[in-house]
Amino acid sequence: MKHGTLYGIGVGPGDPELITLKAMNILRRVAVVFAAVSTKNSHSLAEKIVSPHLKEGMPVKHLGFPMTREKEILSEAWQGNARKVVEVLKKGEDAAFITLGDPMIYSTFGYLMNTIKESNPNITIEIIPGITSYQAGASAAGQTLAEAEESYTVISGALGSQKLKDIIDHTDSVVMLKVYRNYKGILETLNELELTDSSVLISRCGLDGEEIVGNLKGRPDTTPPYLSFLIIKKKD
Ligand SMILES: C[S@@+](CC[C@H](N)C(=O)[O-])C[C@H]1O[C@@H](n2cnc3c(N)ncnc32)[C@H](O)[C@@H]1O
Repeated sequence: MKHGTLYGIGVGPGDPELITLKAMNILRRVAVVFAAVSTKNSHSLAEKIVSPHLKEGMPVKHLGFPMTREKEILSEAWQGNARKVVEVLKKGEDAAFITLGDPMIYSTFGYLMNTIKESNPNITIEIIPGITSYQAGASAAGQTLAEAEESYTVISGALGSQKLKDIIDHTDSVVMLKVYRNYKGILETLNELELTDSSVLISRCGLDGEEIVGNLKGRPDTTPPYLSFLIIKKKD
């Protein structure tokens, strides 16, 4: 029997209208929708975003993933999750894996895709791009990311601000995701670089409690929500 196809679907950053028609059409015809959830809680924002688009009764199955950077623990969890997805595909049914923003940027989809490719290289995987958090946030803030010959660089703040220091002289703007845990340290670096007043903090873009702060000098250094990122623009 021919195996089903796995669709990795980006559902955009929060607003259920920021999802592609292609994603919506696929979500309406697959047999099962999978969503990653932390093993600490069972909440899936991606599921909440797509819920207005799903057919009634569409099964949404949660795949638990541990909040750790330990490669062995992660790999074991994703092997288990991959088996659950492959089980559906081997019955000849199509399945979708939904993920916040775009599947190819800092997404749990990468783990699932690579694990399935390793164990079942014949399975067809199709990826449907989504609007990233920073594309939606740049639009919400009315802040261009690059013009003319400029470049912008996307980095993670998960390990602090060293990456920012490394890159700032080699790019015109920086988009820094995952800023919440090391926010104070990142702010200190922005102060050192004299970029605090040209940095924009965007939190919960397209969701309840959305906040856009255009000049960080006026904001206390309290930890922002998990769903927050920075656009750091160098001054001319
Ligand atoms: C695991 S990454 C997911 C990135 C996602 N795949 C994308 O394309 O934007 C999580 C980080 O994305 C950013 N993020 C995702 N959704 C967001 C939103 N609605 N508002 C602000 N930041 C968001 C935050 O920096 C958060 O820490």
